Amino acid sequence: MALAIAPHANAAGDAAAGEKIFNRVCKACHDVAGKNKVGPHLDGVVGRQAGSVEGFKYSEAMKSSGVTWDDANLDKYLANPRDFIPKNRMAFAGLKKEDERASVIAFLAQGSS
Ligand code: HEC
Repeated sequence: MALAIAPHANAAGDAAAGEKIFNRVCKACHDVAGKNKVGPHLDGVVGRQAGSVEGFKYSEAMKSSGVTWDDANLDKYLANPRDFIPKNRMAFAGLKKEDERASVIAFLAQGSS
């Protein structure tokens, strides 16, 4: 998994494709430029502690999850948010395709260096 050239790139992740998917399925609730919407902003989310954006009202479940958003945890959460963090408040069924998740994570990682 360690790629020397692009430290944040996920094995199958394509950031450009990920941006399109993000715009289609995440953007209604999430901003990547530091503004909270229905969901917390995702600027710098890769490597961030879950539930840590100042000023955003998280669920108790998210705040007490103890999760750090590395690639592996993002992949599990985005595949099935309710399964990974029961009772969290993100009203999103999940991205079922692994390559779509990898691409979205690669896109998010661009804002997280
Ligand atoms: C319907 C609105 C909605 C959609 C669509 C949505 N989210 Fe969320 N998301 C939320 C909310 C609300 C939370 C906070 C949940 C909580 O506090 O329990 C959240 C939390 C998160 C978190 C945790 C952030 C943190 O600071 O701990 C990540 C990561 C995330 N969403 C990524 C995504 C991605 C990527 C997509 C698209 C594939 C997406 N979300 C789609 C509403 C949404």
